[in-house]
Amino acid sequence: MKQKIKELFSQKFGTKGVMYASAGRINLIGEHTDYNGGFVFPGAIDKYIAAMINVNGTDKVRAYSVDLDAYTEFGLNEADAPKEQWARYIFGVCRETIKRGFTVKGFDTVFAGNVPLGAGLSSSAALESCFAFALNDLFNDNKIEKFELALIGQSTEHNYCGVNCGIMDQFASVFGKKNCLMRLDCRSLEHEYFPFEAQGYKLVLVDSKVKHELVDSPYNKRRQSCERVAAKLGMETLRDADMAMLDAIKAEISEEDYMRARFVIGEKQRVLDVCDALQKGDFETVGARMYATHEGLSKDYEVSCVELDFLNDVARECGVTGSRIMGGGFGGCTINLVKDELYDNFIATAKVKFNEKYGHEPAIYPVVISDGAHKCME
Ligand code: GLA
Repeated sequence: MKQKIKELFSQKFGTKGVMYASAGRINLIGEHTDYNGGFVFPGAIDKYIAAMINVNGTDKVRAYSVDLDAYTEFGLNEADAPKEQWARYIFGVCRETIKRGFTVKGFDTVFAGNVPLGAGLSSSAALESCFAFALNDLFNDNKIEKFELALIGQSTEHNYCGVNCGIMDQFASVFGKKNCLMRLDCRSLEHEYFPFEAQGYKLVLVDSKVKHELVDSPYNKRRQSCERVAAKLGMETLRDADMAMLDAIKAEISEEDYMRARFVIGEKQRVLDVCDALQKGDFETVGARMYATHEGLSKDYEVSCVELDFLNDVARECGVTGSRIMGGGFGGCTINLVKDELYDNFIATAKVKFNEKYGHEPAIYPVVISDGAHKCME
């Protein structure tokens, strides 16, 4: 992929530039907790976006997406926002960097990626983090703090892409470290690296390859539900809420908001349980919490779909230790913690059964926890 980017860069712009890359992510547990001030437990993976970039001496960005075979140009002023969604990610990162008082000058770029789109692996965060990292290196002597780079990506989603996301994806993409998961406290932003060595187990993603068309931005609606409940409790977020507090206001909120908050309160504790269990090598507890998360995401948070519930059932039938829908939801992957000796049977069964029911095989991605945003050496 990097070779191809290099060749296309020289074809299109007649020069060469510097290559940067940033990763997609998995999340072991802690879903829809980031914007509630809770905990998440992600890691960067070996699927990434890479971009070659060269300063061009103009006040324009000229960008070519290899995967979409699409080219566009835009200026760096607010009025120059491009129409193409893919280019808005790059434009947003430039604008958010400038907004924070840092420098961005015109550049040429060719980029490509192998993070599956719409699979819940945060290809957009990978793209944002790749450019945020690159602009820091190229124009700002790396003075922008790493957390600020993640926030630049998150604000890009908020202000240029219409998704009111939390910080998890951009954090994972910027901070990712080989063989480590990271527990992030999304309120204090304290984070800790946990070496992930699940001896005797494999982590694997099963991608349903379905992405349900969403009207009315259901992700943002989930967030609004949580914010309504927090406001009712007189809190900024649901971080400090517990079930007794929620039950005390049950009559004053909608059934739907109650269910959303119930999930978030349970999920907060599950992340902490999983971190403890991992440190003790207790994978049975890790797995049990993953199934509980799936249940909550499906029944209370209502972000699963029949295809993912089906994959979750297949995992259970095959004796998989833990399985759950991963990411924002409404399609995409399950993440599965599987004993080595059950792995082949699980994968084969999932493929056959899913194909019988939905007419196509799911894609299988073994998880390799990798480094996040970086400059690529020649
Ligand atoms: C998406 C968002 C994240 C997070 C997850 C759900 O990936 O971008 O901020 O909220 O959904 O955990």
